[in-house]
Amino acid sequence: MKILIAEDEVISRRILEKTLAEWGYEVVSTTNGTDAWQALQACDAPRLAILDWIMPGMDGIDIIRRVRSIRSPDPPYLIILTFMEGSRNIVNALEAGANDYVSKPFDHEELKARIRVGERMLELQHKLMSYNEDLEKEVAARTADLWEAKDAAEAGNRAKTAFIANMSHEVRTPLNAIIGFSEVLIDGLAGELNVKQKEYSGEILEAGRRILQLFLNVLDFAKIESGDMRLRNSNFMLRQLLVSSMQTVEEEARRRGIPLTLDMAMDADIRICADSDKLGRTLSCLLDNAVKFTPDGGGGVRISAKPVRYGGETASCRLPSGEPFPAGNASGAWNLLEISVADNGIGIKREDIGRLFTPFTQLDEPDTKRFKGAGLGLALAKKLVELHGGCICAKSEFGSGSTFTFVIPVGLESCDAWRGGRKGRV
Ligand SMILES: Nc1ncnc2c1ncn2[C@@H]1O[C@H](COP(=O)(O)OP(=O)(O)OP(=O)(O)O)[C@@H](O)[C@H]1O
Ligand SMILES: [Mg+2]
Repeated sequence: MKILIAEDEVISRRILEKTLAEWGYEVVSTTNGTDAWQALQACDAPRLAILDWIMPGMDGIDIIRRVRSIRSPDPPYLIILTFMEGSRNIVNALEAGANDYVSKPFDHEELKARIRVGERMLELQHKLMSYNEDLEKEVAARTADLWEAKDAAEAGNRAKTAFIANMSHEVRTPLNAIIGFSEVLIDGLAGELNVKQKEYSGEILEAGRRILQLFLNVLDFAKIESGDMRLRNSNFMLRQLLVSSMQTVEEEARRRGIPLTLDMAMDADIRICADSDKLGRTLSCLLDNAVKFTPDGGGGVRISAKPVRYGGETASCRLPSGEPFPAGNASGAWNLLEISVADNGIGIKREDIGRLFTPFTQLDEPDTKRFKGAGLGLALAKKLVELHGGCICAKSEFGSGSTFTFVIPVGLESCDAWRGGRKGRV
């Protein structure tokens, strides 16, 4: 290994040159700080330097400071030679960036040991540098892979969106024809039908509506999962939304002898700011279940709504953390709206409540399946409620009926004053 000696005092320099040469080191010797600094700048500069503290021109500490000011991944190992007694000086030298020190007159064995330590440190430093280089190459390769994967995922996402848009059009068009023309047939607009023809047309109409409903649920679910669904808030009368949601199951309920009732608290007959389409879809999912899982001629389905005002009673649903829902703000710009759909149907066993909102979960055994559906309605309802920044929960007694309740924050003033949704709420 090549070692630089910077020492202006002749005798010390000669001893150092001779000793290091005897130990087998290649020696570069300088008599002042300026030459030493230049030697350290050379292409094949020595990796270890023994620098006298006091020298003409530039002293040892100046050289150390200069070397350390250059950011190098593989800096030289610097030992300062000092006559100056006292730990304060040693501390100063180490703080300036010296790796080690040797006091003059130096002890040969001590100097040898300190040079060996320097060699080992340089070896470790070199290893660390090549590990770092390997690591950087690895990181660069992985980053390139990630960019590639991201590009592929984005291309896949674009293809999926185009596919969904295309499918949506291709499936809805024939379904609209099936639904529309079977309605035309049932209404006798294409001539009177006999009883059997009317019955079969009714079956076609119902099957078409079910496929459309399933298709819309799958589309919406995929849209929410991919983060493409946004709230579109507007001002509307809550009563209007509840009434039109009930109309989606009215025919089925009437046919099966299940009464539907709307129970609105006086102070719930209000104008709110929320996404009426998504609230309507949520209500339809719950009402569809309530009617479906109530036996013919059963007790009935009741939809109720009430606001939960700031400082008043707490909401029935809790946040996923288990905390009570914070009910509105003192200014009254928003409050919670609590809507429940209750039935006196078949009910749900206590142990099944926890898995109701998992997509494609149905409690009916597959081989004895009595009820139609894909098991997506409640999962979709939950996603839509959460998109509003709300929560949904179920209570039930097996054999007696179930109540599904959801709570969402809604604006009570105009939509301008209410941003809505998860972000706007807090
Ligand atoms: N009101 C209810 N009474 C009793 N069981 C219910 C009720 N609502 C939901 N369930 C149970 O939860 C399951 C999941 O409901 P979900 O609405 O997600 O699916 P589905 O109604 O079976 O099918 P889909 O809604 O996709 O047409 C149902 O299959 C049923 O077993
Ligand atoms: Mg359902």
